[in-house]
Amino acid sequence: MSTSPSRRNSRRRAEPVAVFADEVLKAAAALRRGELVLLPTETVYGLACDAASPAAVAAVFAAKGRPRFNPLIAHVTGVEAAQRIAVLDARARRLADAFWPGPLTLVGRILDTGAVCDLARAGLDTVAVRAPDHPLAQAVLEAFGGPVAAPSANRSGRPSPTTFADAVEETGQSVAVQLDGGACRVGLESTVLGCFGDELVLLRPGAVTRDQIEAVAGPLSAGQGDAGRSPGRLARHYAPSKPLRLQVTAPSPDAAYLAFGPAAEGPLVLSLSPQGRLEEAAANLFSMLRAADRSSADRIEVAPIPEIGLGEAINDRLRRAAGHVG
Ligand code: TXA
Ligand code: MG
Repeated sequence: MSTSPSRRNSRRRAEPVAVFADEVLKAAAALRRGELVLLPTETVYGLACDAASPAAVAAVFAAKGRPRFNPLIAHVTGVEAAQRIAVLDARARRLADAFWPGPLTLVGRILDTGAVCDLARAGLDTVAVRAPDHPLAQAVLEAFGGPVAAPSANRSGRPSPTTFADAVEETGQSVAVQLDGGACRVGLESTVLGCFGDELVLLRPGAVTRDQIEAVAGPLSAGQGDAGRSPGRLARHYAPSKPLRLQVTAPSPDAAYLAFGPAAEGPLVLSLSPQGRLEEAAANLFSMLRAADRSSADRIEVAPIPEIGLGEAINDRLRRAAGHVG
């Protein structure tokens, strides 16, 4: 199911789904057999399995080396399918209507413990649901017909893969089917939002910004929720193997430098966005962290990124990648 190298890193929209019909059917059949699939989404590549199957979910945790206390997101076709597995109140449904399909994950009380097994939820009485905005992901979800658990396809603790080649390198050897959906349009994981009665808690900043959420649903609750509600946020995460220093305005000549906005060119300089656009920086973040990691430099430095809009999620990933876990 792999494609020619020239297609792998192109930042293109996926081809019409008809071109991939055969692969989509193979992917759905593999999921039904309890096997794993590399699944492109608009945010990052996912390592997908049948959310109802404890054995398949266990294989995902093993392939990633992921601690079992960290629950997975159940991917669904849309709000109707989500409401069969999770309790979504009126405010959560408004958010789903506004942002789905798209990079917003809603956490609510679990309704159908068979459809998303205990292991996928790490034993919690809640479940995270999202409808991804990628034609291949949607086609696989349609063909499979049930919730698909899919964490980012990186090995635990590493940057999420945003190209097909990076996804194959991370966990490709553990899957039955690899779907090439091109480079991920958003490049940063979904926003995770806890919808717990009166509380609306930002559990993970992401591609949908705080302002966008508040415009639809009113003010978010203060804080980022306690660790029990946000289990994936404990560890160092998204990390390259080389040391990473943030907020660097005068880069060292021997460090790989991720610039933002106008910057001097150099062999070790990569620009997240020459014009200082946050959407572009988000889309480039993980692939450039990986490129810097592969370079001859022995460390990586990153320019300051403004803490506004998408900058909140970009800075969150950078702080965790640098080991400054808050
Ligand atoms: O964009 C994304 O969300 C990607 C694509 C593949 O959909 N997926 C992704 O999954 O980033 P993962 O497993 O890498 O991150 C899921 C996050 C973790 O921080 C996890 O702790 C949190 O969602 N999460 C999942 N279920 C939860 C629950 N019931 N309560 C609180 N947090 C939950
Ligand atoms: Mg992840």
